[in-house]
Amino acid sequence: MSEAQSSPQAPAAAAPALEVEQLTVTYGGIRAVKGISLRVEPGQIVALIGANGAGKTSTLKGIVGLLPSARGRVRVFGRDVLGMPTHRIVAQGVTLVPEGRAIFQGLSVRENLELGSILKRERAGIEQRMQRVLTLFPRLGERLSQAGGTLSGGEQQMLAIGRALMGDPRLLLLDEPSLGLAPKLVRQIFDGIIEIAKGGLTILLVEQNTRLALETAHQAHVLVTGELALSGSSQSLREDPRVKAAYLGEELHV
Ligand SMILES: Nc1ncnc2c1ncn2[C@@H]1O[C@H](COP(=O)(O)OP(=O)(O)OP(=O)(O)O)[C@@H](O)[C@H]1O
Ligand SMILES: [Mg+2]
Repeated sequence: MSEAQSSPQAPAAAAPALEVEQLTVTYGGIRAVKGISLRVEPGQIVALIGANGAGKTSTLKGIVGLLPSARGRVRVFGRDVLGMPTHRIVAQGVTLVPEGRAIFQGLSVRENLELGSILKRERAGIEQRMQRVLTLFPRLGERLSQAGGTLSGGEQQMLAIGRALMGDPRLLLLDEPSLGLAPKLVRQIFDGIIEIAKGGLTILLVEQNTRLALETAHQAHVLVTGELALSGSSQSLREDPRVKAAYLGEELHV
């Protein structure tokens, strides 16, 4: 029997990059994520927006297996991953760039990037991916031997995204890449994110900056206290009076 026939979970050709069904996350009996369902098609940028404490980070951590209390269903390119240990989910091509970046402060920019490839056995692709990251974020190229901890906040965010790309993921989960950054650096990072998606990588983008998220993503979901309150194309959400009033800082005129 061939490999494909023997595998009952072989992904269909056009499987969504990510399917989340009825995901719940609880912390000591308190439900932070209350049964949300969403889907990300390959090559799309989908934004998950919402206020502090809405459950955005919990959703991302639930998807990558960092929260044992997560229940429901998570499929990545057609494969069920909920319940798998995180390293096996990463092996399916999923990478989370966490809130607060978590780069190695004492290691150089180059070493941080190389560590992103540590799970990849082939050496050949590494230099190629390094070049791609440095083209995407030229500031990193100018600072290859500088310690990660001495980079500015925005540069550290570039490094965190660059390190994730070094692992050659198929699905990238970004948690608040704009947090605490000056507008100019935010623009550079988001231009990088758009460029990455054009290269075919699928992105689930968590953002509190609603305007920026809706400018960047194809589809978006609004999370309110653990539940999806609104979902749709970014354009439809930009024009939605509820989104304008609550998240875009515009007065509601209806
Ligand atoms: N480890 C934890 N233990 C207990 N409660 C937690 C834990 N992590 C998160 N929570 C709670 O779960 C809820 C959702 O938190 P989460 O971090 O997912 O929100 P968020 O939407 O990412 O918020 P922010 O925009 O501030 O990052 C919050 O009420 C938070 O206090
Ligand atoms: Mg968060």
